Amino acid sequence: MKYKEITNESIAKLMESFYEAIREDESGLGEIFNNKIGTSEEAWDAHKAKIGEFWKGMLIGQSEFRGNPMQAHMNLDPFPPEYFDNWLNLFKKSLDSIYEPEIADMILMRAQMIANRFKSVLYS
Ligand code: HEM
Repeated sequence: MKYKEITNESIAKLMESFYEAIREDESGLGEIFNNKIGTSEEAWDAHKAKIGEFWKGMLIGQSEFRGNPMQAHMNLDPFPPEYFDNWLNLFKKSLDSIYEPEIADMILMRAQMIANRFKSVLYS
């Protein structure tokens, strides 16, 4: 059964699904993440928890997230802008597997807006 609401539980599932796909990705994204986060389960659990908080802040308005996403991406070694399309495709797949379409589409739109903001700064 797919979620009709955004809950802490559904965000945790989204994080599991998305970062499992990211870790296995062979298009270049996986390498960036595995180099930065590492390969231990502990490091990935911490990353998933952190990004889960980011999305809770975005979508539920309650969050422990403390970070600076724009800066974090500016600090990465440069990568081609097309990688954002791969990121969004994997994110969409996970969203569609977890949420009813209206919710999945709404979250995807938020992610697209954030990706566009990142891109406008990273590739200007
Ligand atoms: C090709 C696209 C992307 C790549 C390669 C990428 C890669 C990464 C990596 C490697 C980190 C860990 C950085 C660190 O620990 O220092 C990170 C952090 C993060 N990413 Fe991305 N990312 C991408 C797109 C996105 C998008 C579109 C979003 C949001 C919709 C996003 C949200 C975040 C957030 C919230 C953090 C945590 C930032 C912080 O610690 O302050 N990322 N990303």
